Amino acid sequence: MVSALVRTILVTGGAGYIGSHTVLQLLQQGFRVVVIDNLDNASQVALIRVAELAGHNGANLVFHKVDLRDRHALEDIFSSHRFEAVIHFAGLKAVGESVQKPLLYYDNNLIGTITLLEVMAAHRCKKLVFSSSATVYGWPKEVPCTEEFPLCATNPYGRTKLVIEDICRDVHRSDPEWKIILLRYFNPVGAHPSGYIGEDPCGIPNNLMPYVQQVAVGRRPHLTVYGTDYNTKDGTGVRDYIHVVDLADGHIAALRKLYEDSDKIGCEVYNLGTGKGTSVLEMVAAFEKASGKKIPLVFAGRRPGDAEIVYAATAKAEKELKWKAKYGVEEMCRDLWNWASKNPYGYAGSPEDGSN
Ligand code: NAD
Ligand code: WQD
Repeated sequence: MVSALVRTILVTGGAGYIGSHTVLQLLQQGFRVVVIDNLDNASQVALIRVAELAGHNGANLVFHKVDLRDRHALEDIFSSHRFEAVIHFAGLKAVGESVQKPLLYYDNNLIGTITLLEVMAAHRCKKLVFSSSATVYGWPKEVPCTEEFPLCATNPYGRTKLVIEDICRDVHRSDPEWKIILLRYFNPVGAHPSGYIGEDPCGIPNNLMPYVQQVAVGRRPHLTVYGTDYNTKDGTGVRDYIHVVDLADGHIAALRKLYEDSDKIGCEVYNLGTGKGTSVLEMVAAFEKASGKKIPLVFAGRRPGDAEIVYAATAKAEKELKWKAKYGVEEMCRDLWNWASKNPYGYAGSPEDGSN
């Protein structure tokens, strides 16, 4: 069992959507947490709320507004704390934007990660959990996707994930003291059941459920459904939606693995998904049921680069991390609506303060 009493974990991108939920679980389990985030796609309010939700453990949270590529700032932080491990969420993640601005994505995601790994090595901190993505499976030939499937990238964002995975494998090969877990997330959805923290994307949401949520609160007139001619039960795309709280739990399981099975772990990859596929129309129906709101739909052609059906094989994570998703789409939609109805403009509080 991990003794969290003396463990301090560095969480990069900890003010973001998945990061903030993971920081809360870490605090609740007694870890000390240092977050670095440049707040490019996050609000510091998220961390204030995380600390409140964590009660007296909230005092164990430290925040530094730092860009990962700022080596001197990173060095200073590593010099003033002894980190047992790093959970590395920080990165840009909008697929469409990455096609428009590939150099921004390569610079931010790759240089940020390389700088982090170099500073970690210099400070002899060699335990890492990295946020990879199901995007590395591209359009899979079959489902469920197992960790051994061939990998590919269909856009610069996805390529940064592939390259970082390879960098991690090379780093471990060069120095087996490194213990690295690559987590391939499927489609994170939902919010903490308190409705106090959740997803608050800047600008127009790219992903399905943040968009649905903004339609439900009246910020957008309708949802555009991309593609009705897929070879699926209702013609719309199928994905593996996973509750963000389950996903956060997966990170605690990964940390535990790094400590308990340290001698067996080299650079290992795990899917974090539920193993269940849900179509766009099924997700919309589940959300309508949870919220009592009608979501007006406009049907359109396929979105370029989208796969037909993607869902996870979960056996490896279940067996080796002893982790399994607990929640289904009903709970995801319930908690998403709880967050959205309490925070229709996210952390900003009002349309004037928000990004749009
Ligand atoms: P997010 O944008 O909410 O969080 C990422 C955080 O990183 C943000 O708070 C942002 O301000 C910060 N950040 C970005 N670049 C930085 C830099 N150079 N220095 C410091 N901070 C920086 O995104 P999220 O949904 O929480 O995703 C977290 C991680 O998981 C990302 O790496 C993302 O690619 C990956 N991921 C996300 C999904 C998803 O659908 N949400 C799916 C698979 C993988
Ligand atoms: C889900 C389904 C869309 C929006 C993306 C990234 C992936 C990962 C998760 C980070 C698809 C449909 C969507 C809309 C729609 N992120 N849709 N109308 O594409 O599976 O994965 O997020 O790593 O890398 O590519 O998720 O939520 O965008 O789409 O009909 O307005 O919803 O076509 O079938 P996706 P998504």
